[in-house]
Amino acid sequence: MSGLSIAVCGAGVIGQAHIRLIQALPARRGWLKGIIDPMPQAQAQAEMLGVRYSEHLVRALDEWRPDAVIIASPNALHVEMAGACIARNIPLLVEKPLADNVADAFALAHLAEERDVPLLVGHFRRHNPVMRAARDLLAKGGLGRLVSVNADVTVCKPDAYFNVPWRTQSGGGPVLINLVHDIDALRYLCGEIESVQAVTSNAARGFEVEDTAAVLLRFTSGALATLTLSDATPSPWCWDQTSGENKDFARHQGQCYRLCGTEAALELPGLIRWHYAGQKGWTQPLSAQPLAYEPGDPLALQLDHFLRVARREEQPMVSGKDGAATLAATMAVLEAARTGRTVTPARNCQPA
Ligand SMILES: NC(=O)c1ccc[n+]([C@@H]2O[C@H](COP(=O)([O-])OP(=O)(O)OC[C@H]3O[C@@H](n4cnc5c(N)ncnc54)[C@H](O)[C@@H]3O)[C@@H](O)[C@H]2O)c1
Repeated sequence: MSGLSIAVCGAGVIGQAHIRLIQALPARRGWLKGIIDPMPQAQAQAEMLGVRYSEHLVRALDEWRPDAVIIASPNALHVEMAGACIARNIPLLVEKPLADNVADAFALAHLAEERDVPLLVGHFRRHNPVMRAARDLLAKGGLGRLVSVNADVTVCKPDAYFNVPWRTQSGGGPVLINLVHDIDALRYLCGEIESVQAVTSNAARGFEVEDTAAVLLRFTSGALATLTLSDATPSPWCWDQTSGENKDFARHQGQCYRLCGTEAALELPGLIRWHYAGQKGWTQPLSAQPLAYEPGDPLALQLDHFLRVARREEQPMVSGKDGAATLAATMAVLEAARTGRTVTPARNCQPA
């Protein structure tokens, strides 16, 4: 079987990670056909790698006819670019968020389904084997019935991060940039989100955009979650700094998610299950049991999965609908904070 030719559209931070991983694939699985990005350094990189280069996605699609495309461009371009791939029946991986608004995200998900074009959304945390192990444990009742969840997303972004103006303005804050990953992870682990309450604050950094949020979720299962978010707090308690899945972040011991059920509790990313070995009750000692799993690089596993999705051997682990639902729940956090109301995330997959 010959490998799939893959084009990468958008050769910025995450595009570079995709390019590196594609270049590392055995040729029988996949290979980099070309890079699409208007920046001169992208052209230089394409020349250096000996692959094709274009400034324009549509031109590249029509001239190169790649087997699959990864869209890693700015959010506002995702819908139009994904639409161009879908119109040509080309399987695609779209970086998160699927779109820059919920209606467009659902419309895009619907279009891909209607045209039967494989679409995977780049919420790569789901591909972390520890996530899969946790989900399997929950599915087989390893915690009993899920009751409550705590998730910490407390980090300290360096001051230089905010030299880029959009990161200090509405829409550029940690709810849409960071919390979206945790909301997707919790949807994956705990099921659909029924309602959202939230309070945000910009008091720590004083920018227009929020730096901190406290969020309450109710899942359709009835389980409740509390999420604490801040990008102004020196703290190890977040997925990026405790899971070790992204080598750009220092790794610390500690757990950032706690899931509690009627029979046991689970800490992540350590995959530590707490339960009563003997009699149940708060006067009794709990035992902590680290569960075994085979670690793996979630971005590389995502690419492996994408190749199978593009060959129609597997259904996307994060479908367009999933990406849209995660975006809807994340936008619901901002709406709940703005209005002071409890918000039901949009779930409509049909265009209006
Ligand atoms: N999955 C993740 O964890 C993760 C991490 C980072 C970013 N992202 C997402 O990936 C996307 C890109 O983010 P980034 O941090 O790499 O941004 P970035 O700014 O570093 O890169 C974006 C790239 O897109 C290019 N670009 C702009 N217009 C283009 C066009 N018309 N055609 C082709 N390329 C174009 C830019 O020149 C730039 O090189 C965003 O949607 C972001 O949310 C996802």
